[in-house]
Amino acid sequence: MSRIDSAINIDDLKRIAKRRLPKIIFDFIEGGVEDEVGLRTNAQAFRDIRLVPRYYIDTSKRSQKATLFGREYASPFGIAPTGMAGAFRKDAELFLSQAANDADVPYLMSGASNASMEQGAKLAPRNLWYQIYGAKDRSFQLDLVRRAKDLGLSTIAVTCDVPVSSNRERNRRNGFVRPLRMTLPTILEAMLHPEWVYTYFKNGGLPMLGNWQPYAPNGSTPDQVADVFAAQTPDASQTWRDLEAIRAAWPGKLLLKGVMHPEDARIAMGLGLDGLIVSNHGARQLDNMPSPIDVLPMIRAAVGPDVPLLLDSGVRRGSDIVAALCMGADFVLTGRATLYGATAGGLEGVKKAVSILQREIDLVMGQIGAVTLKDLGPQYLLETVRAEEERRNTGAMLAR
Ligand SMILES: Cc1cc2nc3c(=O)[nH]c(=O)nc-3n(C[C@H](O)[C@H](O)[C@H](O)COP(=O)(O)O)c2cc1C
Repeated sequence: MSRIDSAINIDDLKRIAKRRLPKIIFDFIEGGVEDEVGLRTNAQAFRDIRLVPRYYIDTSKRSQKATLFGREYASPFGIAPTGMAGAFRKDAELFLSQAANDADVPYLMSGASNASMEQGAKLAPRNLWYQIYGAKDRSFQLDLVRRAKDLGLSTIAVTCDVPVSSNRERNRRNGFVRPLRMTLPTILEAMLHPEWVYTYFKNGGLPMLGNWQPYAPNGSTPDQVADVFAAQTPDASQTWRDLEAIRAAWPGKLLLKGVMHPEDARIAMGLGLDGLIVSNHGARQLDNMPSPIDVLPMIRAAVGPDVPLLLDSGVRRGSDIVAALCMGADFVLTGRATLYGATAGGLEGVKKAVSILQREIDLVMGQIGAVTLKDLGPQYLLETVRAEEERRNTGAMLAR
């Protein structure tokens, strides 16, 4: 039995990934910002949701098939964009693309990925989405949109929650800056992870930012391409007008990723977007943000019942996905959960992460009495049940 086979939950995959990676790299995946309050907020918000089951409902033919933008997917979740995944395991984004294709779930490839969208689209022609960061020179973001259009991708997402770089103290302490600042303790610690170190150096160090390679002079090294990217992003001068320009250039489905305020949700939908990703970037940007699951009901109320709302940040269990759907999300994205899989075991690892979440969703649906995703709603939430019972009891008292 391989190590991946022995993983029974996402936390097991995380442990395998952690063993494989030097601390400096694992901390880049795992870390939040400043005091890392946000990481705890995201985890706790899911732990605080209580689902109240109903019994004696025939759930023998459960289905977790989900429809988004008129397209059916195998499950109500997809893979969130995570930049530089190729540094955690060589070709990680190709594994994520392949696994998304095989499992029939979407994969939103990062604008800072190592593989290019052209490579991803070959492996997942119907499942690849692409994520865009605004650039100082707007012609870059519009050219990325053009490339996504030329590939026939169905969906792109613009990430709005990185107006400026965030204060990732783990990275600064570890020397995970460019160029990598390798101190003696970092080097000695890395030696405990020889497989990663060997592959890293065999492949020439930090991998290329594949989507940005065309914007650097021919023959540029990965570092030179990274310089072009770093000179363009983040761009604090982006405004709603830039999103409007992307809307005008992109005929497919357009999502805004990182929406946390109901008013921003209303403005975005007023610009003709197709849906929103409620996200705090996995607690990697502003430390004292609320958890997306806590603002979701307000955002749902702001945009109405028909706007597709996706949610990410803190999802580690199938029950988190079911809870998000009960709270008003239509779809969920997983960041670290699937990344642990890719890092721990490449293609096999991502497949394992996806299948763990699918199995957990299926079991929770059976546990609470839901046959399809349409059955999921606020009626399963403890607070709804309590409020209804209180209303009932008050009504009964008044009738007496
Ligand atoms: C290592 C790493 C890299 C990330 N890179 C990006 C990125 O390039 N673009 C983006 O929009 N979000 C990025 N994110 C945020 C994820 O898309 C997602 O919002 C977040 O991981 C969700 O939280 P979770 O990891 O708790 O599931 C990154 C997250 C991680 C962990």
